[in-house]
Parts: sequence; C-alpha cells; structure tokens
Amino acid sequence: MSKKLYIKTYGCQMNVYDSERMAEAMGAEGYVTTDVAEEADMVLLNTCHIREKAAEKVYSDLGRLKPLKAAKPDLKIGVAGCVAQAEGEEILRRMPLVDLVVGPQSYHRLPAMAKAAGKGEKSVVTDFPEEAKFDHLPERPKAAVRPTAFLTVQEGCDKFCAFCVVPYTRGAEVSRPAGRIMAEARGLVEKGVREITLLGQNVNAYHGSAADGDWSLARLARELAKIDGLDRIRYTTSHPNDMADDLIAAHGEEEKLMPYLHLPVQSGSDRILKAMNRRHTAESYIRLIEKIRAARPDMLISGDFIVGFPGETDADFAATMDLIRTVNYGMAYSFRYSARPGTPAAEKEPVPADVADARLQELQALLAGQQRAAQEAMVGREVSVLFEKPGRLPGQMVGKSDYLHAVHVKTDARTGEIARVRVAESAPNSLGGEIVR
Ligand code: SAH
Ligand code: SF4
Ligand code: F3S
Repeated sequence: MSKKLYIKTYGCQMNVYDSERMAEAMGAEGYVTTDVAEEADMVLLNTCHIREKAAEKVYSDLGRLKPLKAAKPDLKIGVAGCVAQAEGEEILRRMPLVDLVVGPQSYHRLPAMAKAAGKGEKSVVTDFPEEAKFDHLPERPKAAVRPTAFLTVQEGCDKFCAFCVVPYTRGAEVSRPAGRIMAEARGLVEKGVREITLLGQNVNAYHGSAADGDWSLARLARELAKIDGLDRIRYTTSHPNDMADDLIAAHGEEEKLMPYLHLPVQSGSDRILKAMNRRHTAESYIRLIEKIRAARPDMLISGDFIVGFPGETDADFAATMDLIRTVNYGMAYSFRYSARPGTPAAEKEPVPADVADARLQELQALLAGQQRAAQEAMVGREVSVLFEKPGRLPGQMVGKSDYLHAVHVKTDARTGEIARVRVAESAPNSLGGEIVR
C-alpha cells in the first residue's frame, strides 16, 4: 500500500511550486499526497521566514502535531522552506518531534532524507549545493493538472534590501537554463496547462543560458509565446531596477503576455528607499510606471508596501501615500515592518507599534479604494476569462480575467476553456459577466 504525504505550504508562490515538485519527488518513492494530516505517514511543512508571524506560525503548527505523533509514532515530520534554511539545527533543538530539516536548494535530497528518517536517522541539509536542485528532481509526471501552472525560472536574490531575509534563505540569484524551462513548459501544455506564471524572487533579472547566448525574461516570454496551446504568460516578482526595455516593449507587442504587473516599491520616500537599500527613487519608479503604461496602457499595476520601517517619519509616510495616489494600484499587498534576525535593518530603532499600525490602516484604506475602483472600472468591458473551476452557483464557472480578477460566468464552458466575457457587475471580491457570442 502506498504511503501518504501531507504538505502544508506557507509563504510565496515559489513555495507552492516547490511543494508540487517535492510531492512529485516523493511520488517516485511511493507516496501519494493527502489533504488530511491525520491520515499521513509523513507531514512536511514548507515554511516562510519573511515576517516574524509567518516564522512563528511554523512552531505553533509543529506543536499541534504532537498528539498526532504520539498516537502514530511512525509518523515522519519534515520542515522545508525558508525557516528550515534560516534555523537549521535549531528546529530540531526546539522541536524534537521533527525528523528532517531541508533547505530550499536541497529538495532533490528529500527522498534519501525520508528513507533515513524511516530508519530513525534525523537529518538537516541546508547547503547551497553546486548542482541545481531542479536538474536532480524527477521529470514532471503526466498526471492531469489545472489549466494554470507556476514555473520557477530564477531563484535567489542579490539585492539585499535591508529588511529582507530572502538573499539569506534562498541564496544568490540563479537562472535555470532556457532549454529546460522551454521543455518543462511544453510538458505542462501537453497536459492541458494554458497559462504559465514564471516565478522568481527577481524574475525580471532572469538571464538563462541558451545555445545562442543568454536569454532575458523578454526573450524567454517571446519564445514561450510560440508554444501552441499556451495562451497566457505571467511572471512575478519583478524588481524595478531589472525592468528592462525589451521586457517593457514585449508587453506592447506580445498578446500572450498578460496586462498585469507586480512591481513592488515598498516606500515612496527617497530617504527610506535609501535606508532600505532599494537603489531606486520614488521618481524613477513613477517614470518607470509611465513607460510601462505607454507600452501597454491598460496594464494593471500591483505593488508591495512596508510601513513602519525604522526611521520612517510622518513625512516619509505621507510620501508613500502620495506615490500610491500617483501610481494608482489595481492590486496591492502591504505589511507592517517586521524585524528579521540577521538583516541590517533589524539593528535599528523600530517605529512604535501603534504608530506603524495606524499608518498601515490608513495606507490599506487608500489601496483598498483604488483596488475597488480598478475592479469597478471593468464593468461594461470585454475581458478574456480562463475558466479554472465550477462556481458556487449551479451552471456557473469561475476563472481569471487577463487582469487577474476572478470572474463568475453562467456558462457550459469547461475548465481550461478561454472565453470572451462582458463584465456586468462588480462584487466585493469578484466580477460577474456574460459570454460574448
Ligand atoms: N522578491 C520580491 C518579494 C519579496 S518578499 C520583491 O523584491 O519584491 C514579498 C514582500 O514581503 C516584499 O515585497 C515586502 O513588501 C515584504 N517584506 C519583506 N521583508 C519584510 C519585512 N522584514 N517586514 C515586512 N514586510 C516584508
Ligand atoms: Fe527581498 Fe529585496 Fe530581494 Fe525582494 S529584492 S527578495 S525584497 S532583498
Ligand atoms: Fe517566504 Fe521564502 Fe517565499 S521567506 S516569501 S517562502 S522566498
């Protein structure tokens, strides 16, 4: 009988992708995945270290596994992801019920580590090996998949923003060879995938080797667009300083490149941007957005913001609010600054929690209004929708528009079909529309 694997994924989309690859690697060892932790022979937590809350959640979840492990002593418990990388051995010390700890660059070692755990041997692997993990993970299987898929093309970060753990947990920037990405994309499309989101911590810094020299992200996107049956290409997350002209131009020319761009800025104050080591100004970011909108006027811009970075004054915060008003975001993610061990900013005097909280509320109210307006502006327009699953009501399907809004439609279309839809209404978290005949 096959063994069961339960994976819980925290954090960013790259972890979602990695969890799939780990499930596939364990599949080759006879494990099938389950959604029920109680049924599992192995529980794997794929963790996130980005903010304190995310990292601490892992320990409370591990604590909650204690009764399960007591009732089922053969249960193996593994910790993967960025907390594994950042804390390594410390996890075993704090949580003796853990059997293995594996960092993001070592997932190809997971099957061997699971076997060792079966023999009662604990292991911790957090090196940044020379061999690329993806080259050592099994080929992606032929099983049916969803119509959308993530595909990691680049990992790691050399930017060292003063607040961020990613350069430490994911290591230096590495791009996967273009040929492997093309092959993986073709494989996904053969299995029915119609939309691929290319992933990287700095995805637009992609520069993968190919027979005819290094490919930029723009070149990769243009080559992917030639694959029949692949209809939509997205990518995330981009850094403003890597937003190259050829990529901006591609947005104006390549229809399969979707008009949605996640381009975090973090702050609108030059003083704070400097202290964050972002290496760009508010002005240069705004000019960049203008250039992007000149190439693709309907581009929906999404961003990330941190409030309460050490030293942030009311004037700095006001500058962030001004930038938000200037750019006008269709989507946004915002966070209260969280001091992370080992990062330069963690040494600095924090902004009082109540001040940071009040700023976050004010900023989120502004962004929520912009988001609502962007969604409401879709009413009356025609969009394309890729149907992903049945909706809540009978005869209804739900999918994503080009602009990544969820759209409910009454239709007999099936999962994986793309249709032209006229948007008729805007609800709090989704749009409603009708098929255009
Ligand atoms: N590579 C991407 C994403 C990094 S993590 C980028 O450069 O944008 C995702 C978001 O988490 C960041 O954009 C930032 O807004 C937020 N973040 C990162 N570190 C943080 C910290 N220490 N405290 C609060 N938010 C943080
Ligand atoms: Fe973190 Fe900055 Fe790198 Fe993004 S660019 S992953 S925020 S260090
Ligand atoms: Fe979190 Fe690591 Fe992603 S810290 S956001 S899981 S890169």
